[in-house]
Amino acid sequence: METMIKVENLTKQFMGLKAIDDLTVEIPAGVATGLIGPNGSGKTTLMNVLTGLLSPEAGTIFINERRFRKIKPNMLRRLKIARTFQDSRLIEQMSVEDNLLLPVAENRCWHSLAERNTNAYREKLEAVLETIRLKQYRNKNAGELSYGQRKLLEIGRTLMQNAEIYFFDEPFTGLFPEAVGQILAIMQKLKTAGKTLIIIEHNMNLIERLCDYVAVLDHGTLLAEGTPAEVLKNEQVREAYLGK
Ligand SMILES: Nc1ncnc2c1ncn2[C@@H]1O[C@H](COP(=O)(O)OP(=O)(O)O)[C@@H](O)[C@H]1O
Ligand SMILES: [Mg+2]
Repeated sequence: METMIKVENLTKQFMGLKAIDDLTVEIPAGVATGLIGPNGSGKTTLMNVLTGLLSPEAGTIFINERRFRKIKPNMLRRLKIARTFQDSRLIEQMSVEDNLLLPVAENRCWHSLAERNTNAYREKLEAVLETIRLKQYRNKNAGELSYGQRKLLEIGRTLMQNAEIYFFDEPFTGLFPEAVGQILAIMQKLKTAGKTLIIIEHNMNLIERLCDYVAVLDHGTLLAEGTPAEVLKNEQVREAYLGK
């Protein structure tokens, strides 16, 4: 497998606590990687470092073989990286449509929201609204949506960005089976299109269905990596993660 992202000896600490501790790991290109591990093992922190929200104290990041000390938020568009958040980052008082257009507009100029009827994003917007099944809610404020619809809207925002690398932080948590199925289908479609997916998820059943590769974190270090089947067989993983 080709590598899309590699981190080498990465460290990120919070007041002395090493949330990421000299971590070296590779994320393969064009497949879905599950990022798993107990609560507090550093999964979200790793995602935050790789999406420019946090600067690491040490280490090197390679994306598509380009070398970085850190990722800055304004680099995400060029690196074709999109993400969702564990806690929703929608703008409640804005419509579904505007929430979808915002990440596109953010990267250029706020005013492009006003141009939404004339620009090329209109077609994309229709396709994404269809995919996330929110067409009939397009003019409703995000704050009026159900929890599941909000999760779908967040994923819709990543789809608007024509990214190559998608980070999803616990996209399935708290969802009813129908929404889980919808999101699985969206992710399968991204995989078919050759995109690189990194998914933080606790449900091993979903990881097995969706992921080609799994990296297990524990205390900010790599406990195990491999196919879902390989990782699930690993004794250390079973102890640390599954409590067996
Ligand atoms: N902004 C922060 N400030 C201080 N400590 C943090 C911060 N973010 C995360 N941590 C700590 O870093 C560790 C890893 O957290 P996190 O990456 O959120 O874990 P996970 O996503 O695997 O549950 C935890 O001990 C957490 O309390
Ligand atoms: Mg987390």
